Amino acid sequence: MTAKTRAAERLARALRLESLISPDPSLGLVAMKSPNDPTPSLVIDDGIVIELDSKASNDFDLIDRFVVAHGLDLEIAQTAMPLADEELARMLVDVNVSRDELVRLSRGLTPAKLTAVMSTLDPVEMMFAMKKLRARKRPRNQAHVTNRKENPALLAADAAEAAARGFAEIETTVGVSRYAPLNAISILVGSQTGRPGVLTQCAVEERRSLQLGIQGLTTYAETLSVYGTDACFVDGDDTPWSKAFLASAYASRGVKIRFTSGSGSEALMGYSEGKSMLYLESRCLSLIRAAGSQGAQNGGVSTVALPLALPGGTKSILAENLIAAWLDLEVASGNDAIASHSSIRKTAKLMGQFLPGTDFVTSGYSVMPKYDNMFGGGNFDSDDLDEWTTIQRDWQVDGGIQPLSEEDALKIRRKAARAIQGVFEEFGFPQVSDEEVEAAVTAYSSRDIPDRDRAADVEAADTVFSKRVSGVDVARALDRSGFSDVAEAVLAMQRLRVSADYLQTSAVVGEDGEVESAINHPNDYSGPGSGHRLTGDRWDRLQALPHVQTSTAAAGVENTDGQFRFDVVGEARVRHDVAEVVVAIGPAFLGSLRHTIGGLGHRQVIEAIVEGVRSGGAEARLVQVRRTSDVGFIAHDAAVLSGADIGIGIQSKGTAVIHRADLEPLDNLELFGMAPVLTLDSYRAIGSNAAAYAMLGQPSPVPTEIDNFARVKHIVRTTLMHAVETGAVANDAPPIEIELLPSS
Ligand code: 5AD
Ligand code: CA
Repeated sequence: MTAKTRAAERLARALRLESLISPDPSLGLVAMKSPNDPTPSLVIDDGIVIELDSKASNDFDLIDRFVVAHGLDLEIAQTAMPLADEELARMLVDVNVSRDELVRLSRGLTPAKLTAVMSTLDPVEMMFAMKKLRARKRPRNQAHVTNRKENPALLAADAAEAAARGFAEIETTVGVSRYAPLNAISILVGSQTGRPGVLTQCAVEERRSLQLGIQGLTTYAETLSVYGTDACFVDGDDTPWSKAFLASAYASRGVKIRFTSGSGSEALMGYSEGKSMLYLESRCLSLIRAAGSQGAQNGGVSTVALPLALPGGTKSILAENLIAAWLDLEVASGNDAIASHSSIRKTAKLMGQFLPGTDFVTSGYSVMPKYDNMFGGGNFDSDDLDEWTTIQRDWQVDGGIQPLSEEDALKIRRKAARAIQGVFEEFGFPQVSDEEVEAAVTAYSSRDIPDRDRAADVEAADTVFSKRVSGVDVARALDRSGFSDVAEAVLAMQRLRVSADYLQTSAVVGEDGEVESAINHPNDYSGPGSGHRLTGDRWDRLQALPHVQTSTAAAGVENTDGQFRFDVVGEARVRHDVAEVVVAIGPAFLGSLRHTIGGLGHRQVIEAIVEGVRSGGAEARLVQVRRTSDVGFIAHDAAVLSGADIGIGIQSKGTAVIHRADLEPLDNLELFGMAPVLTLDSYRAIGSNAAAYAMLGQPSPVPTEIDNFARVKHIVRTTLMHAVETGAVANDAPPIEIELLPSS
């Protein structure tokens, strides 16, 4: 045996793969408060801002200038800025201060002031404020749909399943950029097959992304990245003005836009100016607001692991989501890129957004395995879907994902894969084979899908741009290939682009096809009983997980005709001076229940016990105790009947006790409480030990295994089987002697 040490075992934990560091403000490696962060201030002279956050207007950089010009209401600032940080913080958590009032005040708060207020809140206060400040009433979720082979059938099938699971937005991206139009078309067709109204985007380089929007192949964009320092903008050939212009370009074509920012990017790029991550993010958010965006994707996002390396990182990320909500921005709150190796730590972090609810709890839930996530691997992925829906059920909280039966999933996946097959054929693209379609329906990952001719695919993709293939063309192709309902849905998205209703803050398209936004479905939380509460039909839907059983099914009742599988010899009598062991079964044994919780047949169990007793040199007599379901009393009753004062009691679920008549009923010789791990050999050993006691010997206790998970695994069935047994109790019925019927 090689000895293990505590340290080595703990070092091998997933958590220890990450590098946690102590703060280094000079490099911007500090989550919430750097000594270099400015003191909040706003000095106005004759309607002109001459100082912002301790900086004179002569020293303003691009971001300061942009925020001052477009993002601050100087009128409101007069009353908002003088409020103490603690005063504003209290208002955030006061149910009697409305969201409207808080949003109004936020218009007059500077980036440093917003940051300062956050640093007075603890995590639960932040969650509460988030619950209050979220823009849309009902939280939703966004999905990632990609795969390494960029297989259109698999993309369409995954998008369809995601839509059917309730995701309101679905985004794809590419491994090879020329694939973008094909991927965009695949998830457009897939999403509309799964649920009409789901918004889609293809996250690629801005020019291509905008072009896809203009052609009606996507309906939202969130690739508008901004940063909290000028140098980072310049690094990306951008300014706040260029980003604002781009946003307007998208919006003018009916494409919903959302900016992206998130702690860590400035430090990562080496241009943090020694400021805290939260302060820089606060600048981003003020800028996003000033640029007229309806929303933000933030919460670290792709750089989330950097703040998580620092003290207070998880809290700071919730703070940045909260500032966004306070500024009346729709928040797609991260939880998309892998934040940690540790699933405990990932889930702990998630609760900050999951419990209060944000507009999109994750800004990209990978509905594929990590292997196929071309965004760099999802923080939560297809393997975790059942856990996500179970956690929603545990907390009675709506995290934006609906359960879906495997049968329904397969149906919708097949339809979507066929639909994209039809579109490819209509467009004269390289064909999607029947083999690919079938593989896409059931594949775990793209490894299970046949390869395609990638050169031919990208050539076809180029024609989407050169021939200006539009959303209407996709609808037409769908219609011609027999998918008129999907065609209608794709066409409806084109209509929505023209009406542009979903450009409103936090808009999604609801199940009824109506746009649902902060305008017509505002978050109206104002304390207990208000806001979106998971009740009624929605709660019924979210608790009906495919892996939930009814209690009758879980109890394992196998016989409902009330017939017992034994003959009754007569009332059981007390015997004296006989080397026998009385084996007493419980009231439902071989009646309505016929197997132990470990799956052993009752008959085999009794035969094993009897065999054991005989091998130990004693006789075995079978009885049934009907007055109780308590195994201690069943065994004690058996011992009292026994000519050697030794009894074995066995419940229907398999729990057994060896008893002696002179002991108190709740005392015993040996107890075998771990019924699920007992084997027929164990029951044989129980029989032979009981025989040894009957012969006045002193056997060594029957060895049994211990399963640490037995309780969590079996507690429900234990409860249900015991309920059946207790239901079979006949209070005053005497014990009866029985004889097994020949097995049929
Ligand atoms: N700051 C700014 N942009 C980000 N993105 C991801 N994380 C951040 C961040 N912390 C952007 C990427 C890409 C999209 C996936 O989101 O640049 O456009
Ligand atoms: Ca996203």
